[in-house]
Amino acid sequence: MSQAEFPTARLAAPVFGEPYLLTPGPLTTSRATKEAMLRDWGSWDADFNQVTAEIRRELLAMAGVSDDSYACVPLQGSGTFAVEAALATAIPRDGKALVLMNGAYGKRAAQILDYLGRTHIDLDKGDYLPPQPEEVDQLLRDNPDVTTVFLVHCETSSGILNPLAEIATTVKAHGKTLVVDAMSSFGAVPLTVDQVPFDVMVSSANKCIEGIPGFGFVIVRREVLEASKGRAHSLSLDLYEQWAYMEKTGQWRFTPPTHSVVAFRAALQQHAAEGGVAGRLARYTRNRDRLVAGMRELGFETLLEDRWLSPIITTFFSPDHPNFDFKRFYAELKQRQFVIYPGKLTIAESFRIGCIGQIDEAVVAQLLRAIADSLAAMGVDRCKPAA
Ligand SMILES: Cc1ncc(COP(=O)(O)O)c(C=O)c1O
Repeated sequence: MSQAEFPTARLAAPVFGEPYLLTPGPLTTSRATKEAMLRDWGSWDADFNQVTAEIRRELLAMAGVSDDSYACVPLQGSGTFAVEAALATAIPRDGKALVLMNGAYGKRAAQILDYLGRTHIDLDKGDYLPPQPEEVDQLLRDNPDVTTVFLVHCETSSGILNPLAEIATTVKAHGKTLVVDAMSSFGAVPLTVDQVPFDVMVSSANKCIEGIPGFGFVIVRREVLEASKGRAHSLSLDLYEQWAYMEKTGQWRFTPPTHSVVAFRAALQQHAAEGGVAGRLARYTRNRDRLVAGMRELGFETLLEDRWLSPIITTFFSPDHPNFDFKRFYAELKQRQFVIYPGKLTIAESFRIGCIGQIDEAVVAQLLRAIADSLAAMGVDRCKPAA
């Protein structure tokens, strides 16, 4: 690999000598975000309520929606909790969903609907092929009783960025409700209601806004939320009640993840200072481009063609070499201060490397050197995947 010159790291190195997390969240956070957690907060206290109000406002602004037509409802738990609450809210008990899937998170939504007892039909495109607007159009023509369409924006299991805007336009043309899982894209890939007419959008604290885990949030059209009273299957995942209580009291309905919330406010301030969504997209795109170019120089191949590669995470095929073993590769990289992610494909051996979190091109350059060194230590001199 040629050793081009890279800018020196603008971003602080991980604080306690811990490895960089090149994973899709939890991810490497900044020192300022970690430091925001060095204080305890009373969950009923006005100071904390103000933080909650501030992050709700900021998130609505990021989605390009106003307070009178949409609401932002944060919910304790990981992203899946928020997806489950959102699906239970958006789909009437006698409704029917069309689930567009091309990976693990679309499949998970269908599994949630089975738990919820909601009828659904699925368009399953396998490990990574994108659902196409024409297919969605045909399915909606053939199934006029569908009330709600679910799509994952960036399907993190392969790294594909699905054609959300085109599909959203089709769904709206049919007058259906659109639920978007933008868990791993919101904050770094533009997603505003003028471009993507969504009804419900779900994301979480520990992805592109670079907070820590602890809660997810749902941005939902007020009409949809208001119609959902009494629909939820679960007390703690009742999005309507969470919203109604927050509106009335300014507080979270049950114990809030206080430290995660204040860390998130700090992360939002840094997000704004970096230039908002555009600034973050630019840095993640540079990370991805440097990563993909460097890996290709080493002989690796990406799962996806360039036009489908998200700036969030990239899947690489594992080398077809007798000495390559993912567990050993992972350990060699961890020893060199980088944590990567296993693959999730059913068709081939693969692994994933994230481009998000507090990393820049200088860190990616260090990673590429660490990969070259790890391969040398393993005796892998050819990275071409199996045919
Ligand atoms: C697109 C997408 N949806 C849902 C989830 C589930 O989130 P969690 O693991 O926080 O429950 C993830 C997690 O990475 C994701 O990437």
